[in-house]
Amino acid sequence: MGRTLPWDWYGGTIPDNAFVDETAYVETTFSFFLYRSTAAEGLRIGRGASTYLGTMFDVGPGGRVTLGDFSLVHGARLICDAAIEIGDYALISWNVVVMDNYRAPLDPDARRSFLESFARGDRRAAPAADTPRPVRIGNNVWIGFDSCILPGVTIADGSVVGARSVVVDDVPPYSVVAGNPARIIRSIQPGDSSIS
Ligand SMILES: CC(C)(COP(=O)(O)OP(=O)(O)OC[C@H]1O[C@@H](n2cnc3c(N)ncnc32)[C@H](O)[C@@H]1OP(=O)(O)O)[C@@H](O)C(=O)NCCC(=O)NCCS
Repeated sequence: MGRTLPWDWYGGTIPDNAFVDETAYVETTFSFFLYRSTAAEGLRIGRGASTYLGTMFDVGPGGRVTLGDFSLVHGARLICDAAIEIGDYALISWNVVVMDNYRAPLDPDARRSFLESFARGDRRAAPAADTPRPVRIGNNVWIGFDSCILPGVTIADGSVVGARSVVVDDVPPYSVVAGNPARIIRSIQPGDSSIS
């Protein structure tokens, strides 16, 4: 029987292959409604980390998500079929989408077949019709609200993503990126207090 959370309004359980540190906070097990990972370790949430209402672990059978120590995820959707790694002290704001897989094919005919497959079978178990590319979000990264991090992207330590950005390329360390597509608007010196 999976672990329950005394404060949980949803009343579900934390899956057996999801490892949540005793000092971490998961606001509700509803975050696992789309969690289907069968990996030995489908999710790991580190020391002192927090995940709040609206966070969804949309993790496919082969997916593995890690949230680092003292990271905070406030209502983001993590779409994972291979690997999404989020570092220590990362701050992920509301409505952020991080995806390692587009899940639907680009080709119009293939997309029609993909959509038909939902009608034929289990609507929640349709195979992801794309090849996943792992996403890595480094330590101390801050991602502003409504942003989208696309497959294969690495955001290096200490960087900031402006609100409503679409990140399609890797972000170097201690950079501020913004816009669609996200571009570097400046760099940060650690200890710089001009972003508060
Ligand atoms: C990224 C951010 C931190 C940058 O702050 P900043 O360094 O003070 O940046 P500035 O306001 O000086 O803007 C610098 C330039 O980037 C642009 N810019 C800043 N944020 C942008 C954004 N989100 N999208 C597009 N352009 C942006 C500005 O228009 C400005 O352009 P210009 O030089 O052509 O005039 C801030 O804009 C932001 O998006 N914060 C998100 C906060 C958030 O999501 N909080 C949720 C709580 S966790």
